[in-house]
Amino acid sequence: MPRLRKLKRFVYGSALVGLTYTGWLMYRNRNPAEQLPFDPTKKTLVLLGTGWGSTTVLKNLNTENFNVVVVSPRNYFLFTPLLPSCTVGTIENRSIMEPVRLLMRHKHREVQFYEAECTDLDADAKELTLVRCTKPEEQQSHPNSAANPEDIVKLKYDYLVVGVGGTVNTFGTPGVEEHACFLKEMGDARKIRRRLMDSIESASFSDISEEERDRLLHMVVVGGGPTGIEYAGELHDFLNDDLTHWYPGLANRVRITLVEALPNVLPAFDKKLIDYTHSTFDENRITILTRTMVKQVNEKSFIVQNPDGSRSEIPYGLLVWATGIKAQPVIGRIRQQFANVQTNGRGLLVDEYLRVKGAKDIWALGDCALSGYAPLAQVASQQGKWLARRLNSVSSMLEEDSDADIFDLVEKDRRPFKYSSQGSLAYIGSEKAIADLPFFNRNITAGGIATFWFWKSAYLNELFSLRNATLVASDWIKRFLFGRDISRE
Ligand code: FAD
Ligand code: NAI
Repeated sequence: MPRLRKLKRFVYGSALVGLTYTGWLMYRNRNPAEQLPFDPTKKTLVLLGTGWGSTTVLKNLNTENFNVVVVSPRNYFLFTPLLPSCTVGTIENRSIMEPVRLLMRHKHREVQFYEAECTDLDADAKELTLVRCTKPEEQQSHPNSAANPEDIVKLKYDYLVVGVGGTVNTFGTPGVEEHACFLKEMGDARKIRRRLMDSIESASFSDISEEERDRLLHMVVVGGGPTGIEYAGELHDFLNDDLTHWYPGLANRVRITLVEALPNVLPAFDKKLIDYTHSTFDENRITILTRTMVKQVNEKSFIVQNPDGSRSEIPYGLLVWATGIKAQPVIGRIRQQFANVQTNGRGLLVDEYLRVKGAKDIWALGDCALSGYAPLAQVASQQGKWLARRLNSVSSMLEEDSDADIFDLVEKDRRPFKYSSQGSLAYIGSEKAIADLPFFNRNITAGGIATFWFWKSAYLNELFSLRNATLVASDWIKRFLFGRDISRE
């Protein structure tokens, strides 16, 4: 009996300590401590971007040692792996966005943020040109036109980390910019959701021809990489779980087609998983057109080159373009500064210490850096962590000798960056996912419903904050209980 009483006391005591600690963490989270102000004797470290690479640097950096300035057109971090889920309302948009100011405010020393786009670099003067993005969208300069002079800001740096990611690649295909939707940023997911509901509502009018109705209900995905596959899977679920109930007359007429130029989808995955994806898509009545290249996109139709070389025109209601990424315009400007070394148009060439080749005091990481690794969130975040640790480690040496060459210090500090793959996961629809995971020098492949639960728990665990994880988990529960929201917004 006394033993049982002791055990009970231990359990209740532990629960009380756990609850108090969680409460204290939540209190601290909402009531951050005072921060040290900027110190003019410290060096200024500028981080470009608030994506996987730069945000991970900020998260792991000891800001006591630097005056840190973050520059990005968006004031939040976006958890891209769950972006396809936002296009159909499986997850609400804000659940996968984390305001960067929450992170900044918890750093030891004050961090500055400028909501701006970096457009140019003067490496000799160590100065960046920024264009403000703080005006309402309709008042901002058009991306292709010159910025208004009053929106231009100059910013000096001592050290610079470039983590600007990539931008969508249209390969110059006519009509894509004007008529297609992309799936890269939160604005894209919002646009897809709106267009999807527009097409479906337009197809409900009784005065349109049957041919026009079929066009409106034809949803097309271009690109059979992981983005295109995950989006097609989410779209299928929306159709199957929700539209069948609320649009009974239309749902069975909706068609989903995925167009891929190569002989199969998901070229980076194991052959077994590719076959599994093809068979799951067959079951889900998603048509895959392989060896078929989209050559032109018009307002209501697109032109493809078929495997036999002939061309056909296919009508569509919604077309999502997911054919990968290319370098951001600012990367071209940075490359110009080191033109004799930076000869690859796909990004910034970096060495194994992530140092931009030909430059001094500039690092690049993530999708904008040509480091020999695939453009993946995992790569960008591992690079961010590695770089922050190196900077933390050499900062004390900089205290002693502020003119020391930081590139040399980082090189002497530790071994170069090496990526350690955690494997690939992708959602393919109807509660099935595929996984290609490294295991003791071998790769394990798996596909199915158990993998889907693994996919869910892995992403829940990787979300940026407890706040994001709570929101995503509650979205999944909400969807299970009430279905997805079909209002147009
Ligand atoms: P990003 O995360 O793209 O961040 C770039 C940042 O730079 C942004 O904040 C942007 O606003 C900012 N920026 C852009 N231009 C400028 C400028 N001129 N000046 C200042 N700032 C600028 N990878 C995986 O490993 N697993 C997945 O499951 C996965 N799923 C994905 C799903 C989708 C839909 C997409 C689109 C990508 C997915 N990826 C995934 C790839 C992953 O998102 C990228 O590899 C990752 O985002 C790269 O990180 P980054 O920091 O280099 O760039
Ligand atoms: P991608 O580059 O992986 O795939 C694009 C596909 O589009 C290619 O297969 C290409 O052949 C095809 N394509 C190009 N032009 C075409 C045309 N005109 N007509 C038809 N097909 C055409 O691009 P994606 O999927 O956007 O991925 C970008 C990066 O993000 C990759 O590194 C990917 O691994 C990563 N990512 C990873 C995810 C995951 O691990 N779950 C999810 C999403 C993205």
